[in-house]
Amino acid sequence: MEVCFLKPLFVTLVLAILPGKGLYAQSFNVDSVLSAMTLEEKIGQMAQAERGALENINDISKASNYTFLKGDIKDEDYIYSIFEKYQFDAVIHLAAESHVDRSITNPNAFIETNVLGTANLLNAFRDLWKGQFDGKLFYHVSTDEVYGSLGKTELFTETTPYDPQSPYASSKAASDHFVRAYGNTYDLPFVISNCSNNYGANQFPEKLIPLFIHNIKNNKSLPVYGDGNYTRDWLFVLDHALAIDLIFHKGKKTETYNIGGFNEWTNLNLIHLLCELMDEKLNKPKGTAAKLITYVKDRAGHDKRYAIDATKLNKELGWKPSVTFEEGLSKTVDWYLENEQWLNNVTSGAYKEYYDKMYG
Ligand code: TYD
Repeated sequence: MEVCFLKPLFVTLVLAILPGKGLYAQSFNVDSVLSAMTLEEKIGQMAQAERGALENINDISKASNYTFLKGDIKDEDYIYSIFEKYQFDAVIHLAAESHVDRSITNPNAFIETNVLGTANLLNAFRDLWKGQFDGKLFYHVSTDEVYGSLGKTELFTETTPYDPQSPYASSKAASDHFVRAYGNTYDLPFVISNCSNNYGANQFPEKLIPLFIHNIKNNKSLPVYGDGNYTRDWLFVLDHALAIDLIFHKGKKTETYNIGGFNEWTNLNLIHLLCELMDEKLNKPKGTAAKLITYVKDRAGHDKRYAIDATKLNKELGWKPSVTFEEGLSKTVDWYLENEQWLNNVTSGAYKEYYDKMYG
């Protein structure tokens, strides 16, 4: 099976499978999906990040069945041209602007990339196959944030009504609706998964865990929004990749699968665990990193709690997370400490501007 990554300009990524090699008979390398996942996380809008992003796919770039293309998901003509050229049997659409704080500053970028970009892919896929959808699949990767914010005890299931609260979540919710609408209107074969917070190697340091690792390393303050008593459900990125692989091959068409770590942490508890790990790995006295914790102004419209019920995926397809949070976090910290150059690359230039604007 031939695999093609499309990394349109700056922020977007599509993994597409070229035709004629028995889509469901063969498995593609999970590492490929992992690279795709992490590539999306760290492209951001920065040229520096792009350099780092390309390093992420070094491992697969030598494969003979791999093609790298660079373009813009917002560019309809470009998207059509590559669908025509490569005749994709399947698309795994991971391309997204994904950082809530950025969506608060610049919502339109999220509408353009996440909503219009998805529509461009859907249109190209629909028009390429003209109703001949046998053996074809459009896999849309989405987020738990479309469901809104939870109280203390309940969990998001696949039937939880959509109630997005941030511009980012709204843009992903809209894109999910478009995928389902194309399924209903044009019989386009699709599957959707909604995943909880990811963490792991190669994630861009605008998200909580890599940002705090970077700051601890550089003895910079750790900006905790509000009182830090917000809850997220964290999943190791490789486990997300494994879930995507499984759903891609075995998931039922037109179904939605929630993916989550069964792993809820308040931000403060997570940050303390991370601080302890960093002290240990940097050979610093216990309590050193925690001294950097600084409470800052809360995020506007901050969602209180996310938590996924991934029972359907577990029962129907046998998926469950492969690592504990402690193991995954330790591996993640090791990766960032071993890849100093990567971190330096992605945090130079435009990152500094972003950081100063965000955190002053
Ligand atoms: P984040 O990694 O941005 O993911 P999401 O907003 O998709 O959940 O944030 C995770 C949590 O950490 C969220 O409650 C916001 C909080 N947070 C901070 O307290 N400080 C920060 O600097 C960042 C980036 C996030």
